[in-house]
This record gives sequence, structure tokens and C-alpha cells, in this order.
Amino acid sequence: MDKLIIRGGAPLRGQVEVSGAKNAALPAMVASLLTEESIRLHRIPQLGDVRTIIGLLNHLGVSVEGRDREPISLRADRIDRFEAPYQLVKTMRASVLVLGPLLARFGRARVSLPGGCAIGTRPINLHLAALEKMGATVSLDAGYVEAKAPRLKGARITFDGQTVTGTENLMMAATLADGVTVLENAACEPEVTDLAALLNRMGARIEGAGTPTISIEGTSHLHGAEHEVIPDRVETGTFMVAAAITGGDVTINRCLPYHLEAVTEKLRETGVRVEETDCSIRVVGDGHVRGVNIRTHPYPGFATDMQAQMTALMSIAQGSSVITETVFENRFMHVNELLRMGADIKVVGTTAFVHGVPTLSGAPVMATDLRASASLVLAGLAAQGITTISRVYHLDRGYESIEQKLLGLGASIERVAE
Ligand code: UD1
Repeated sequence: MDKLIIRGGAPLRGQVEVSGAKNAALPAMVASLLTEESIRLHRIPQLGDVRTIIGLLNHLGVSVEGRDREPISLRADRIDRFEAPYQLVKTMRASVLVLGPLLARFGRARVSLPGGCAIGTRPINLHLAALEKMGATVSLDAGYVEAKAPRLKGARITFDGQTVTGTENLMMAATLADGVTVLENAACEPEVTDLAALLNRMGARIEGAGTPTISIEGTSHLHGAEHEVIPDRVETGTFMVAAAITGGDVTINRCLPYHLEAVTEKLRETGVRVEETDCSIRVVGDGHVRGVNIRTHPYPGFATDMQAQMTALMSIAQGSSVITETVFENRFMHVNELLRMGADIKVVGTTAFVHGVPTLSGAPVMATDLRASASLVLAGLAAQGITTISRVYHLDRGYESIEQKLLGLGASIERVAE
């Protein structure tokens, strides 16, 4: 296992290019299951999660070409398994995305329940209820969901809560269903819109993606297509905070600023300068930020995937801030590690009360999940002294070439084998 050693204190300066979005790449790759023709995808990032989904698609019989270079081609013309095994699903919840496409095209799917297996704490109940509405028979057996349906039927589905992968799963399932499906209270995240764009290129008839009402007219057959996934808005936001937290001057290229309006607004409120063009964002800080309150929401609200990074920034802000997590129950695991670096944060339920301190000090810390790891990197960049982050594989799941990109901006960061 690798660890990262960061010597903090240097303001980051320069230009960095953002990678393709992990959360758009994963469903796009899975969409290849919907046709026997080839799907060519551009800007797929080299990430742990991408390798995991390739492993799963290979397991099902999808042939994958160009995994180490551009573009990647996926062809599902010889699917001979219909099961997503526990070993693969447990490391990555998004593996559950194969359920809808397998069921729609082959009439059956068996997918392990995501990590921990407890449907109550990491639920996919909304995916399953919606598939049942489309006529699938769903049963649970030995930690696996088994779904069957000779042909899914179009239905009107109102999600009880907004779910990103749930919306994507159902949208994919509905493309090959008999009749029209309408998804109400659908997730509006840009990654959903990007998947709809790919599916429409494959011959699907989807309207309304990016709004809470999506309508999908089913068809009997989809064909091959070529598509470039959108830039990663969480990676973009993470570099924005990196500039702010180090009092630096960073221009982030090949991004889509309009996907980050909530982050931009909050950063401006802290006193940081943010300038945008159509495809780049420049963030200029002077080392001082004001405390601001943050409440996470589904898109276009402030993304839960940016909460940990903003918590790191708030830990050195002037004044106090209240950070409320409304999307996930247990998403303050980075706080204990930030405390080890001298932060002053109290968590009560799903709210963190942050009292800014003048400086953080470097310390050995442990990455606990993907975005928590990013917040520790940011804290390490701002801290005085050396921060050692272990369990970096969490970071590698979602950030492409993170240390090379930070080195390019003048950070002192090194990866060593533990
Ligand atoms: C996706 C993103 C993840 C992001 C999250 C919220 C991918 C691969 N991952 O995760 O990075 O943090 O959206 O923006 O795109 N829920 C249920 N029942 C369900 C499904 C979800 O109760 O069947 C709950 C979840 O527990 C959570 C909330 O709904 O509290 C939102 O989860 P969801 O949007 O489904 O997250 P993911 O799609 O897993």
C-alpha cells in the first residue's frame, strides 16, 4: 500500500488540466452492455474505479480494448455471465449499475448487494422498487439481488428520494423496455445528462435528462456509438479549493464552470477570487478565507462530494462555519483526521461546527474514503510541516495522476510504498 508524503506551506501556482469525470465514465462504460456493437469512449480517466468496472465488464464477457490509452472500446457481443460478484461490488457501489442493462437486454441479472450488504444502510431499494414497477421480479438470495423479466415494460416511476445511480440504472433499463417510461423526481446531476447523451447516440429516445422528469421511449435495439465523457467537476472543485487553501493562483483547464456554480459561489463568499471562461476557472487566494456555512444538496446544490474538501478549507478560515450534510448519513470521517492536524471541529449528528484555526500542522493521517482523502491532501498542502497520508488507494479510486498534477503546481508531494 502506498502513502503520500506532503510538505505543506507552498502556495500552488500554475495551470492544471482536469480529467474525464469518474461518475460519468462508469455508467458510460456500463452502457456498452445494452448493445452487441462497439462503444468508443474518449476521456475515460485512469482510475481504480475504472479498473474495477473493467474487471466486472470483462467478467460478464465484454471485450475491452485500449484500457491504457485513448479511446477505450467496449463490445458486449459475447455476454455469457449475468452476475456481478460480491468481490467486485463490495469495493465499488457503482457496480450496481449493471443491473438495469443486463435485465433489459438479457432478461436476467444477479448482483451482489453493495458493500456491507445491509440494504438498510447502503440501500439500493429505490433501484429495485423502480425495476419492479417495470415488471421485474426481484428476490434477495444469499446477499445477492436476483432480477428477472422476459421484457421490461414502460412505467411511470416516482422516486421516493433522488438517487444518481438509481436514475442512471432505470434510464438504461428503460431504453430497451416495451413502451414509454417516465422517471419523476429523477436526479439532475450532469453525469445523468451525459449518460442520456450517450444513450441517445446509441439510438435511445430520452428526453428531459438534467431535469426531475425524464421520459424514455423504449426501443428493441441499440447500436454502437462514440462519446466523450464530461470533465470531472469534483476534481475541478478539489483543485479550486487547493488554490484557495494554499493562497495560490491556479487555472484549471478543460473543465465546465457551469457545473460548479454552487462551489464557485461559496468560494467567492470566503473572499477568494474566481474567474471563469467557458472552459477554464482561475482561483486566486491570498491565504485568508472567511468562514461560510454550507449545506449539501443534490445538483445543482452544493455537492456532497465537495463537502470534505470545503471542511478542510473551513478549518483554517477566519471565524466559524456550520457544515450540514444532507445527502449521506456518515460523511464526516475526515474530521477525526483533521483534528489530528490541529483543526477545531465538532460533529453533532449530520452537522459539523468548524471553528477556524490560524494554521494546521502536519501529522500522520489515514484516508478513509475517496473524498475524505482529498480533504486530507488539501489540509496537508496548507499545513506547516509534513503530513503522511496512508491508505492512498482510496484517493486513487477517483483522482487521476493526483500527485503529478499537484507537483506541476509546485506542491511538495511524494508517493512511497508503505
Ligand atoms: C452517486 C455518486 C457519488 C455521490 C452521490 C450523491 C456515482 C458513481 N456516485 O452515488 O459520488 O456522492 O451520487 O451525489 O455516480 N438512497 C436510498 N436508496 C437507494 C439509493 C440511494 O436510500 O436505492 C439514498 C442514499 O443512501 C443516499 C442518497 O439516497 O443517502 C443519495 O444516494 P445516490 O444518489 O443513490 O448516490 P449514488 O448514486 O450511490
